[in-house]
Amino acid sequence: MTQQRNILVTSALPYANGSLHLGHLLETIQTDIWVRFQNLRGNHCIYVCADDAHGTAIMLTAETLGITPEQQIANMQAEHEQDYQGFLINFDNFYSTHSEENKVFAEEIYLKLRENGHIASREITQLFDPEKQLFLADRYIKGSCPKCKTDDQYGDNCEVCGATYSPTELINPRSTISGATPIEKSSTHYFFTLPAFEKMLKEWTRSGRLQDQVANKLGEWLEMGLQEWDISRDAPYFGFEIPDAPGKYFYVWLDAPIGYMASFQHYCNRSGVNFNDYWAEDSSAELYHFIGKDIINFHGLFWPAMLESAGYRKPSAIYAHGFLTVNGKKMSKSRGTFIKAQTYLEYLDAEYLRYYFCAKLSSAVDDIDLNLEDFTQRVNSDLVGKVINIASRSAKFITKGHDGVLSAQLDNETLWQQAVEKSKEIAGFYEQREYSKAIREIMALADATNEYFDSQQPWKLAKEAGKEQQVLAVSSQCINLFRLIMLYLKPVLPETAAKAEAFLNDSLDWSVELQPLLSHKINKFKPLMTRVDTDKVEAMVAASQQSQAQAATPAKQAQSQSSSNEIEFEDFAKIDLRIAEIVNAEVIDGADKLLKLTLSLGEDGQRQVMAGIKSAYQPEQLLGKLTVMVANLKPRKMKFGVSEGMVLAAGPGGKDIWLLEPDQGAQAGMVVK
Ligand code: 2FM
Ligand code: ZN
Repeated sequence: MTQQRNILVTSALPYANGSLHLGHLLETIQTDIWVRFQNLRGNHCIYVCADDAHGTAIMLTAETLGITPEQQIANMQAEHEQDYQGFLINFDNFYSTHSEENKVFAEEIYLKLRENGHIASREITQLFDPEKQLFLADRYIKGSCPKCKTDDQYGDNCEVCGATYSPTELINPRSTISGATPIEKSSTHYFFTLPAFEKMLKEWTRSGRLQDQVANKLGEWLEMGLQEWDISRDAPYFGFEIPDAPGKYFYVWLDAPIGYMASFQHYCNRSGVNFNDYWAEDSSAELYHFIGKDIINFHGLFWPAMLESAGYRKPSAIYAHGFLTVNGKKMSKSRGTFIKAQTYLEYLDAEYLRYYFCAKLSSAVDDIDLNLEDFTQRVNSDLVGKVINIASRSAKFITKGHDGVLSAQLDNETLWQQAVEKSKEIAGFYEQREYSKAIREIMALADATNEYFDSQQPWKLAKEAGKEQQVLAVSSQCINLFRLIMLYLKPVLPETAAKAEAFLNDSLDWSVELQPLLSHKINKFKPLMTRVDTDKVEAMVAASQQSQAQAATPAKQAQSQSSSNEIEFEDFAKIDLRIAEIVNAEVIDGADKLLKLTLSLGEDGQRQVMAGIKSAYQPEQLLGKLTVMVANLKPRKMKFGVSEGMVLAAGPGGKDIWLLEPDQGAQAGMVVK
């Protein structure tokens, strides 16, 4: 056996600002399979991750929900951890970038960069929301395109004519947070002097640590010339304050990758593993970051440069993957293909998806398509129809008449040897992240085993006198091949592998020489996996459609795979809009923005709704006012109680939020058409 390797692996840190969806899972499943594979081969592989907890978006979401950012990130972390567990992602540590360890590392690294002359500071002018009193990132500014004049375009580029511009060039710009017209304001910002690392980065990015596609992309940027990187944000910001710079905070992307170190440190604190063995400049341990292709600049340029300046080791490699499409298209809320991790788990088994992704993944940066029909067909045919079938059809001949004891010799030594010899090739494919190739080889073994079983016809032999030993030998041969196949699949299907171990009365170990089980007692066969039910797949899509129609949360997370804003007519038609009369309004203790409203729908009774209109109204001003409400919104449990609908109001926010005035026409309960 080769020497044990010490490996540290990370997946990208999900934002603590929204639920996980299947796009996130593509990455963590890819990583988890790799980590499980390494450990199964006898290496020492540690897997850490964390929630990416800082930034303006998280601060705004918390504000909208009427909770503190700390509460928001704690809620999200609990949800994320549960989802990951549901998908059998076996982190050694899952932490948060809003942690003491991360603060210490972020400050330490920043101070080292500063000492080394790699921090510059200068005044910059940006758009500022005078109402919210905050600087606006480009995505929080909308206006008309300076070139084609189309309205409702974001601060940096026009979706219609493709023009790129600076937000100050927008015509009639407005803050998407408050609706106010932004003003220009200057402030001091801190910059990381990335150009100082050009030579190192040119070499490092070409040193075989990156996929060619990634190295080429980074090469293009390096050729264009590097810019200094703005690593500071002005208050109000949810993050860590920069040392010696009151009111200035580290930009979320500065402390996010440092979160890898912090999570690992947290793991070291309880496991006794030595942090420096993995992160010191001369460390012999391996370090791999699995990431999506959209964040290669942070990991392939900024991060190695920061590590270099701060005197830490750089990653052994960065493994980027493509995006996930569903049924050939970008995930879409209206089509029900923007599937949240939780929604998937309500309907389907995690291992189906683990297998399907595995069967499609390669080491390339290509996008992966989850075709739901193919998913059902592939899992059913490969796993249930081929692999599990081997055990279910062979086991009965071993239980019956032989008390579950396998034969003393194999029936076909060559077939066994061939399957054992595949071990090296399959392991090589896992190591290289060529998972689809590994699966192809494993399924070829399953096919060969089933063909062998069919050719031997043990079910016929079992009816002939004196053929008992042959039936036993054929079936034992198949059980042994099944055992090898399950061993090779163990990184992908940990639960089914555990059930197979219980059935085989043996542990599946890939770090030792592979020997057949002979004269060995196995247990009674119990079904190891059920077929994917197409009705459940359809129900999952329908539920995703529904949940997205209901999730009208204003500050949605900036996800790399955001879906289109358009909804289908059918989605609109589901919304029951009614005129409601406000018959009671109360202040809620502890809530800055919400009022508790009692709304009358006339004959259809009353609803209690928490509405974010406190900035515009005193409760008593609201009595008798009419509003349009979404009357069929599923009741939502909020921090201050259950909300049974949604009030529609118009206006930019703040003091300017308008409801309907009572007039002679509209009446409570009327359907809005
Ligand atoms: O793009 C994202 O979702 C980021 N939250 C990833 C951070 S990865 C790491 F650098 F922390
Ligand atoms: Zn335009």
